[in-house]
Amino acid sequence: MFYCGYRYFCTCFLQRLHKELHAHLNGSVSFSTIKKLVARKPHLNIEHGMTAIRSGQRRTLDECFQVFKVIHQLVDTEEDILMVAKDVIREFAADGVKYLELRSTPRKEKTTGMTKRRYVETVIEAIRQCKNEGVDIEVRFLVAVDRRNGAEVAMETVKLAEDFMLSTDGLVVGLDLSGDPTVGHGRDLLPALQKAKNCGLKLSLHLSEVPSQADESELLLNIPPDRIGHGTYLHPEVGGSQSLVDTVRKHNTPLELCLTSNVKGQTVSSYSQHHFLYWYQMGHPSVICTDDKGVFCTDLSQEYQLAASTFNLSQEDMWTLSQKAIDCTFAPDLKQQLHQKWLELRPTHFVLVK
Ligand code: IMP
Ligand code: ZN
Repeated sequence: MFYCGYRYFCTCFLQRLHKELHAHLNGSVSFSTIKKLVARKPHLNIEHGMTAIRSGQRRTLDECFQVFKVIHQLVDTEEDILMVAKDVIREFAADGVKYLELRSTPRKEKTTGMTKRRYVETVIEAIRQCKNEGVDIEVRFLVAVDRRNGAEVAMETVKLAEDFMLSTDGLVVGLDLSGDPTVGHGRDLLPALQKAKNCGLKLSLHLSEVPSQADESELLLNIPPDRIGHGTYLHPEVGGSQSLVDTVRKHNTPLELCLTSNVKGQTVSSYSQHHFLYWYQMGHPSVICTDDKGVFCTDLSQEYQLAASTFNLSQEDMWTLSQKAIDCTFAPDLKQQLHQKWLELRPTHFVLVK
């Protein structure tokens, strides 16, 4: 139970009503999985402090990206990917997530012989194994483009994603654009992103994660993407512009909002200053997500609790927020089923709240 303004929530209320739409695979690796990986590779001398940013700690965005590099050293074989992906899926399920969209950047590792194709195949295998083992969660996959790697790699990644979209029975649903936002320019990636859109991949683009990217954001927003990752600096109060906001509103493009990630990565100064409120008050589709639950030591229930306590949201508000996220998912075949599930779960949740 936690106290939030005038309201008491049973934490059970905030569990079991989730969809996670913005989770990077290697950023979501938990402490217990890191321990197993470290045991496999003791020669790397990696400690948990190097792979996670604990409560009260802050890092620059650059330091956050160094953390991903450390995790990538630990996760460099097909066996590692399989274990990591299965653990991450099980952990989201244990947190009450019923629908998960995972995203990850295919990596080739010369030393271990892992190819980008095998990377994606292994994640798909993990999703299938979890399903066969009866883990109570639907998982879809977005292939990620790391903006650091430039136009040519982006185009190759789109081709890979298209192949998998056509061959995985709907498990691969889209393309993510992510990576260090201070590196490269979105204009160089436009042809690849357009191609992805044209071939039927859904697009989720990290944009305006840092200030002074209005030009890039305008280009990317006009594709238009199907969802926006973060969008921290889109609105005029923080140096964005009304015209960017208008474009987002015109296309009704949902935002994936990750409170702890933005606070710990210092792109937002505090929870109360988070742009969640700006978009939420406008009634714009906004989905609470974790981004990197392992690196930022959080989970989706905690992110819902933080949103509720910071912005004084009622149980009804939280319920509606969670339910509306269904329409933002990239799996049209599951929307009806998820809506039905939410209606069935609703009475249970309200009974749990004192
Ligand atoms: P992976 O793609 O599964 O290896 O997950 C880690 C990767 O996700 C990082 O190397 C980044 O490219 C990307 N990533 C994770 N969090 C963020 C973020 O907040 N902004 C941009 N990219 C991110
Ligand atoms: Zn992200």
